[in-house]
Amino acid sequence: MTSPSNGSSSRIVQAATRLNRGELVAFPTETVYGLGAEISQAAAIEKLFSVKGRPKNHPLIVHFAHLADLDYWAENIPDYAWLLAEHFWPGPLTLILHKSAHVPLSVTGGQDTVGLRIPKHPLALALLAALGPHKALAAPSANHFGHISPTLASHVEADFGNQLGMILDGGACAVGVESTIISCIGHFPQLLRPGGILHTDIEQVIKCNLSTGTAQTTIKASGSLASHYAPVTPLKTLDDSSLINYLDTLLQQGLRIGLLIHSQKLQALFTAKKNVHCVLMPDNPQDYARQLYTTLRALDQQGLACLITEEVPEGAEWLAIADRLQRAGHRHSSN
Ligand code: TXA
Ligand code: MG
Repeated sequence: MTSPSNGSSSRIVQAATRLNRGELVAFPTETVYGLGAEISQAAAIEKLFSVKGRPKNHPLIVHFAHLADLDYWAENIPDYAWLLAEHFWPGPLTLILHKSAHVPLSVTGGQDTVGLRIPKHPLALALLAALGPHKALAAPSANHFGHISPTLASHVEADFGNQLGMILDGGACAVGVESTIISCIGHFPQLLRPGGILHTDIEQVIKCNLSTGTAQTTIKASGSLASHYAPVTPLKTLDDSSLINYLDTLLQQGLRIGLLIHSQKLQALFTAKKNVHCVLMPDNPQDYARQLYTTLRALDQQGLACLITEEVPEGAEWLAIADRLQRAGHRHSSN
């Protein structure tokens, strides 16, 4: 990745100044755009929760610039967490660790653990460095609570208009889905959210299997709520034959349907079909992930009765996508 140009340097200085004054600034990361507040600014953290519409007990990820500061923000760091940080940072990996006294409880939703990440996007890194020593940004994805995460600056603008101090535009996010979250609290690491780093790559580095599943009795992760990442239009994910049958039933009712598919076979069946808005997605997981949220947001604008997505293949490379599609299909009225 290249370093920021002169034009963006002055934007970064301006953004850092605003953050250090307690304003909110949205900024690009390699996963999705974040809505940043400097963590020592209590009023900014409060505003972050209210602007996003997020319950105050849902912890935020703390983003910082330098690996050497890991033990400034966290305590009792197990060796395997150091290994992961050294190997994957900067990058789309969030580690849950015991928080140090430097992390305010308002940021962690009252918990004694903190989610930490050094992002890879050059603008994010430059912004974090520009804040000054021992400063960090709490940054949830820059969308309204429960909505689809933003992968373009225009997505952030669509959700928040002029409610923010500033939106740093860093183009389209290269990864397109959120970071992988690993809990490093117990003796053994646990996968809390699949994301930009494959859990199989993590297992190779720490030379042990990650436990998965939803056994999060003491840890609250809003990304683990079933209703997250949802479009307004109802969404259903189906295997190919169920999809063909279900679509037929809906079309017989005269409904307009959005279709998100990745196999050419289905495309041949449905592209020219009346009342079907068909999007052919890439059949490799990296490109699919990069386009997913932009495509869902665009389809959500079409006033369609329903979105149907073709089930993606099994396997580590597709896990984060399968996870987001599943959650997008579970919209609750509370969001
Ligand atoms: O890729 C990402 O992680 C993006 C970019 C902006 O960095 N951020 C992001 O933040 O996805 P957010 O707030 O939308 O999701 C953060 C997830 C939530 O599921 C939250 O509950 C979990 O991280 N999390 C944060 N701190 C935690 C903690 N102490 N224990 C358990 N889960 C935590
Ligand atoms: Mg989010």
